[in-house]
Amino acid sequence: MLNPSKLAISLDRDGEEPIYRQLIRHVRTQIESGSLPPGTRLPASRDLAQQLNISRISVVNAYAELRAEGFLSAHAGRGTFIAGEANPSNPPTSIGASSNGNAAASHNAPEAPTTPDRSIREMIRMSRKPGIISFAQGSPPNDFFPMQQVRDAFNTVMDRDGSKALGYEMTEGFAPLRAAVRDYVSALGILCHPDQILVTGGTQQALDLVVQALLSEGDMLLTENPTYLGMIDIARARRVQIHGIDVDEDGIRLDMLENYVLDNRPKLVYVMPTFQNPSGVVMPLHRRRQLLNLANDYQIPILEDGVYHELRFEGEALPPLKALDETGIVIHASGFTKMMVPGLRIGYLISDNRHYERLVRVKQAADISTPSLNQRAMHLMLERGMLSQQLERNNRELRRRRDVALAAAARYLPPGTRWNIPQGGLYLWIQFPKNGPSAAEVYITAVHMGAAYAIGSLFYPNGGGSHRVRINFAQQKPAEIEDGLRRIGRAWREVSCEYDDMERSPLL
Ligand SMILES: Cc1ncc(COP(=O)(O)O)c(C=O)c1O
Repeated sequence: MLNPSKLAISLDRDGEEPIYRQLIRHVRTQIESGSLPPGTRLPASRDLAQQLNISRISVVNAYAELRAEGFLSAHAGRGTFIAGEANPSNPPTSIGASSNGNAAASHNAPEAPTTPDRSIREMIRMSRKPGIISFAQGSPPNDFFPMQQVRDAFNTVMDRDGSKALGYEMTEGFAPLRAAVRDYVSALGILCHPDQILVTGGTQQALDLVVQALLSEGDMLLTENPTYLGMIDIARARRVQIHGIDVDEDGIRLDMLENYVLDNRPKLVYVMPTFQNPSGVVMPLHRRRQLLNLANDYQIPILEDGVYHELRFEGEALPPLKALDETGIVIHASGFTKMMVPGLRIGYLISDNRHYERLVRVKQAADISTPSLNQRAMHLMLERGMLSQQLERNNRELRRRRDVALAAAARYLPPGTRWNIPQGGLYLWIQFPKNGPSAAEVYITAVHMGAAYAIGSLFYPNGGGSHRVRINFAQQKPAEIEDGLRRIGRAWREVSCEYDDMERSPLL
């Protein structure tokens, strides 16, 4: 039997430094000081996590990074060791752990989840390292942006409107832009008056304004499970409760929704009926109607997010919920960000009079108005017919990239991996085999191998999705899509070997 000794680690749970980075620092220091000699066997990730009362993901990530830096080595079937030759007069040891020197106190304590905001920040930071093929962000690809037309629109507006373009705008929005939005949405079947349109700083602000206007601290917001990460952020920032209702192949499950509504009386239901982020699901017409009936029966407003509605490269277009809404129960949020350019931050809300005035007041309190120059430039581009040109070209290219991603997923991802075949939007929603490592466990290795994705569990407001991965296939050109998925497949295989070892060997 090996000599157990204590791995003394004192973690600062309230500090800025992520837990896994603290762990890396401590282990590295102890290796460098000689207190962890080469050949020492480290505890299995599950045991160390339990003893330090931290999430297992933190330990797995720390081990992966230390391995990549050459401090640790993993041996099939035996576990994880301090790298280097063991001194024969100093037999290898196996170590336990204590947080703040008190293992007993933390033993068997429940896992502390990493805070999502920190995971997100860390994830984004890592995926932006130079040389990484990143599929992580939700952005349309930079090479889609119509640079020349945007430049020209700004110059024209400056010449045409002079200093007016640089002043405050009406909170409701630049009137000609509101009229242009009315014309645009009428082609989707949404019939409204410009007075019902509020121009916002992107769709993100539109969602946030609705949450602020309709909910108070502690109120309940229902979403799909999984849902858009930005909405989870909003709920946390506004201190409203959030609960996710499972999604099947037709969108949010109405049986579960109704049961939940009966018991909990939520104040708002947020859905993305077309190309749901992250699952890519499209809600068929019959479910759209049933959802509206349910909302009307219980008098719960629906917040519809239509930001991916027009990014369709296959299949039949369906009407947005707002186009089917006869009672004004739906508030529609969308924007020209995914279709044209995210950086101008032009989005909008469409709401009936019941909520409109309050939404305008909240918008005014937030930022007075969306920048006038950006609104005017967007209006000009819409007038010049750029939106349909962009959509036609972009959707053709999106389809091409989707096909490359599907072929690469089939070629490189491990057997037993599943994914959707999206008819639009930006994402492939992947499920790694359940009996292998989780998406978070593979993540750091994937980044070290030069590819990044969005960890699926971040999209689940009430937990789950540990083996899910979201790939923004649009973000990369075909050669990089292929290469990136190859790297992710390799990372999975590497972690999978070590994972099997860790699962098999009780290391203490
Ligand atoms: C579903 C969904 N809604 C809203 C947004 C925010 O978009 P915008 O850039 O228009 O604020 C995103 C961005 O990823 C999204 O995926």
